[in-house]
Order: sequence, then structure tokens, then C-alpha cells
Amino acid sequence: ESADVQIILQRAQADNSWHIGRLDERDGYFCCAALTVDGKLGLIELYSADQRLGSPATGDLLSTLAVQISIALDNATLYDRLARRRAELETLLQRLINAQEEERRVVAYDIHDGLIQMLVSARLQLRNFTLDRGKADQRAEVALQKGLNQLAESIVEARRVIEGLRPAALDDLGLVATIRHFSAEMCAQSNCKLEFISNLNGLRLPMTVETTAFRIMQEAITNVRKYAHTDKLYVALHRGENNLQLVVQDWGQGFVQAAVAKGRGVGLFGMRERAKLLGGDCKIESTVGQGTRVTAWLPIKDKASYE
Ligand SMILES: Nc1ncnc2c1ncn2[C@@H]1O[C@H](COP(=O)(O)OP(=O)(O)OP(=O)(O)O)[C@@H](O)[C@H]1O
Ligand SMILES: [Mg+2]
Repeated sequence: ESADVQIILQRAQADNSWHIGRLDERDGYFCCAALTVDGKLGLIELYSADQRLGSPATGDLLSTLAVQISIALDNATLYDRLARRRAELETLLQRLINAQEEERRVVAYDIHDGLIQMLVSARLQLRNFTLDRGKADQRAEVALQKGLNQLAESIVEARRVIEGLRPAALDDLGLVATIRHFSAEMCAQSNCKLEFISNLNGLRLPMTVETTAFRIMQEAITNVRKYAHTDKLYVALHRGENNLQLVVQDWGQGFVQAAVAKGRGVGLFGMRERAKLLGGDCKIESTVGQGTRVTAWLPIKDKASYE
């Protein structure tokens, strides 16, 4: 290309039009037309010995083609962008639906593990009241008081669930004291020895970790009370390097996990799901005649937020 051609090409691009010309060195012609794609200027260049290339009619034709090519390319770019945006939207929508589903599941677990267990417990106390009523000692009176208190707690808990908040005791007493209290209550009711270990020393953990830890232990301990028939309960909360480890173990009758009927209870399933929701894990080991151990690990990501 001679310098002249370069200049004409630049001009065509600058004024967004077509230009024709003769090539100096060889006996030839050229025709160029500007085109825009996605806001950017480009050129179509044709070179030939055919002198028709040097006529204004070719310039007109090429420029018309350039416009159509521009439109076609722009459309292709737009379609491409639209398709990508639609895919992005679909991903977002899917995530939203998943988040809603998860939220619903969490509320279902809250009702199951919190409210229902409290009501079950209150009912037991009231049944004890009817059994011990009329006896000389204070046992009936104590059971009635406990039952009434648990009903009052249930009402508070129901409000909490509705507000999507966590159990009241966690805010008032903290995780360790709440779980110790819960374990001690269970042992007092079923006459078993409690071994409780914690290295948290009153340390507060992120709210989601505390709530999840409490719910998992609550379900595990409630299962011990309902099924294990154990004379010993071991409950441990251990803060590791970057996770919280929970253990609830009994030396009761144990069970065969494969034999647990599908759809029977949501407790075991819920413990695993809760741990997984936080990116942790929950392991349930049980041997018939020897007992059951539930171990959960909950990651604690942001140390700075609680230390
Ligand atoms: N610590 C345990 N000792 C003995 N058996 C247990 C223990 N934990 C669970 N099981 C057995 O596993 C079954 C499933 O437990 P899961 O918690 O999933 O359901 P559930 O307690 O029966 O019902 P839900 O928890 O929904 O009220 C129980 O029915 C029980 O047979
Ligand atoms: Mg259960």
C-alpha cells in the first residue's frame, strides 16, 4: 500500500464514508467503506486490477453493504450479550429460590427442634403432675411449675421462630450455659449422669454458628432422652483452630441407621443438613447395645469478628 492509500483509508474512517482510488505502483484500483461494530469504527477494503472498483457506484454499493454488515454484526453482538444476561439472570433466580428453600427448611427445623421439643417436654411435666398429684411431697407441684414455665418458654420461642430469630436462651445465657442447662435438664428427667466439657470459656461465636450448634445438640440430646435409655451422657463443645466441634454421646441401646424408616423423623437428617448449610459436617455413629455418638464440625471463618 502506498502512502496515499493509507491517507485515504484514514479519511474514510474519519468521516465514516466510502472512498475510491487508484493504486500508484501497480495498475490497480481500490475501494473502501467505513463500518461500525459495537460502537467501534472499522473498514472494508477491496483491491483489484478491475477498474470498476474505482467507480463511485462501487463505493455506494460497498457502503450499503458496510451498513448491512454493521447491523448484522451489531445484532449478533446484542444477541450474544442478551443470551449471556439471560443466563446470568437464570443463575441469580436459581440462587434466590435455593436461598428461599433453605430459609424455609431452617424455619421447619426451628419449629421441629425448638418449639415441638419444648411442648413435648411441657407435656411430660404435666403428665408427671397428674401422676404425682395428691401425694404428700412437692413433686407434683414442681412438675406443674416446670410444665407451666416450659409452656411460657414455648410461647416466647414461637414468637422467635416467627420473627426468624434464634432461641431466647442463647442471647441471655450464651451457647455453653444454654447447652449445659439443656443437658442437665435432660439428665435430671431421665436419671442419668452428665459429663459436660467445654473450652469456650464464655467466648461468643458468630450468631449462625451458635444457633446451629445449639440446634444440633438439642436434637441429639432430645433423641438420647427419647430413645437411648442411657445412664450416662457426654456433651462436649470444643473450639479448634478454625472450627467448633460438638459431641453428644450416650451409652444406651443404639440403633441401626439403615433401618431408620425413610420419612420417619427429620431429626438425624436435620442435624446433617444444618451442619452442611454452614459448610461443616455432622457424623452419626451408633452401635446396637453400645450407644450413639453425634459429632459435628462447624467452621468459624471470620475470627476477627468474635475475638
Ligand atoms: N441416641 C439414640 N439412641 C437410640 N436410637 C436413636 C438415637 N437417636 C436416634 N435414634 C433412632 O433413630 C430414629 C431417627 O431419629 P430422628 O431424630 O431422625 O427421628 P425422631 O427422633 O424419631 O423424630 P423427630 O426427630 O423428627 O422428632 C429414631 O426414631 C430412633 O429410633
Ligand atoms: Mg429426633
